[in-house]
Amino acid sequence: MNYRPSMNRGDMPAAIRCENVSVRRGKVQAVDDLTVSVPRGSVTGLLGPSGCGKTTLMRAIVGTQKNVSGRIDVLDRPAGIPSLRRDVGYVTQAASVYGDLTVEQNVRYFAQIYGAENGIAEAIDAVDLGSHVDHLAGDLSGGQLNRVSIACALVTRPQLLILDEPTVGLDPVLRADLWQRFKRLTDAGVTLLVSSHVMDEAEHCDELILMRAGGLVAQLPPSELRARTGETNLERAFLALIEGATA
Ligand SMILES: Nc1ncnc2c1ncn2[C@@H]1O[C@H](COP(=O)(O)OP(=O)(O)O)[C@@H](O)[C@H]1O
Ligand SMILES: [Mg+2]
Repeated sequence: MNYRPSMNRGDMPAAIRCENVSVRRGKVQAVDDLTVSVPRGSVTGLLGPSGCGKTTLMRAIVGTQKNVSGRIDVLDRPAGIPSLRRDVGYVTQAASVYGDLTVEQNVRYFAQIYGAENGIAEAIDAVDLGSHVDHLAGDLSGGQLNRVSIACALVTRPQLLILDEPTVGLDPVLRADLWQRFKRLTDAGVTLLVSSHVMDEAEHCDELILMRAGGLVAQLPPSELRARTGETNLERAFLALIEGATA
């Protein structure tokens, strides 16, 4: 038996529930009647090509997106309410880290906004930047900078961490390293929702939400995606699902 509690989707309370969520952005239906859920204590990948609505959906979940219809519950509360601010960490695609501040100063800045100064060292440790606290962010590598952004989001000890394309621009080794860190965060009880337009990253996720043109292609674990399509390669499996849906 390959019993994995975090995959027991029927019984696990969801960290995020989206029901019939639609978002109009200008003339575009950026998210189109999406019903998905994010199981607690796992890494859920929000995957699909650029422009399919990943960022818009994340913004809706965090509560920063206008023109959202449908229902979104986050940690059993309506998305966007003030009491969720400390419980939900969000790192945007173009995460802003101040190059002229040190690693510690960057994280402290966020900590002060949320009155969470006692979480600074723990957040920096969680991304292994303890030896770099006094380095200027401007002197760090791309991978280290991404980790500073994540530390800033971790400073309030969120239960849910939402990361928008955190591995973009990283080489394969650093990408794998970051996914390992995500896994470790889930071991500590954090729920992650991570977006990517690179399908092979599906490999690192417990659960997948596959999107295309604002709509849902499927929500399922990678193993089920393979089983359903007969493809071992996840990118081909994704394409096979789309072809099956449009056939
Ligand atoms: N500020 C905006 N105004 C109008 N349309 C937008 C805006 N931002 C994104 N869009 C459109 O919404 C759709 C979804 O975009 P987005 O959520 O950014 O996709 P993804 O993150 O998957 O690349 C796209 O068609 C995009 O062009
Ligand atoms: Mg995006």
